[in-house]
Parts: sequence; C-alpha cells; structure tokens
Amino acid sequence: MADAAAPRKVTRRNFLGWWMGIILGALTVAGAAPIVVYLWPAPPKGQKKGPVNVTLDKPINQMNDGDAIKFDAPSTPNTAFIMADGGGDNAQGELAFGGFVVKNGSKVDVFAINCSHLGCSVALNAAAKTFDCPCHGSRFHLDGSVLQGPAPVPLSHLTWKEGSDPATIQIDGIVLGF
Ligand code: FES
Repeated sequence: MADAAAPRKVTRRNFLGWWMGIILGALTVAGAAPIVVYLWPAPPKGQKKGPVNVTLDKPINQMNDGDAIKFDAPSTPNTAFIMADGGGDNAQGELAFGGFVVKNGSKVDVFAINCSHLGCSVALNAAAKTFDCPCHGSRFHLDGSVLQGPAPVPLSHLTWKEGSDPATIQIDGIVLGF
C-alpha cells in the first residue's frame, strides 16, 4: 500500500508538460497583447473628459435676439469641445476648438465652429446675420441650418449649461493633456 504522506515524485513527463504549458501560456499572452492594445488603446496620459468653462464676451442674459458670440476652447491647459451631433464632415463625439453662442428668439443655441462640408472654421457675418465658411462658400443661418452649400447639413451642436455667472457657460469637452 502506498504511503499517502510520501512526497510525489516528479516524473520527467510531468516536468516537460509543465514547461510546455508555461511556454505556450507566455506565447499566447505575448501574441494577444498587441491585439488587446489595438482594440482598447489607453487614453493619452492626462486626457480627461468633463465640462470646459468658457467665459463669453457678453453675458447670456444680456444677449439680444440675433446676437452671436464667438468663443475658443481654453488653451491653459489645452481643451476641446465634444460635438453633440453631426453630419457631413462632422460627427457626434468629434472635437471642436471653437464655437458660437447664438440667441435665436427665446432660445440659446451653442454650435461648434466646424463647417459641415470639410471642417473649416465658419465666421460670423454680422451684417447678413449668417455664418460664412471661407473655404468653399457655404453659408448657414444663425439657427445652424444651411443657407447655401456645398455644406450638406447644419452645424453641429455643443452640449452646454450655464456656469457660475451669466458670462460663463460649461460645455461638454475634454482636457487634452498636452
Ligand atoms: S469647408 Fe466649408 S464650404 Fe467647404
């Protein structure tokens, strides 16, 4: 009868089996790691989504119907805004580095600055009350809708809320970390 307390003898076959298992496991991890990193890349160091505070040239509660105020993404640290919707060259989740707050009747809209044709920055045409694109001539009404192509769709909205005072708004964005 075998002694249960006696140490088990490691056979040559068991020893080689363990080593083969360890080597196969290591090769599988080494082969899969680049695929995992490709599919789920780590965000760049320091990058963080969150509200971006923007100070406007004029408080929102003093804007008149048809007023439009341009703003840029703060650069200390570098930030960008996240588009809430899109079409054409723009898309939900893409970044914008500027925008416009517009008072349209009782409504306040906040648009990304990017033209929906190929992404150039639109400029306010204060006299005509339109946003005009310098690249290929697209024009937009102050409510963001297309007045003249080639832009195929309206300007993208930015998601925002009022900040701590009427001259500040908070826009969904990202700190870029560089
Ligand atoms: S990028 Fe604006 S019209 Fe082409």
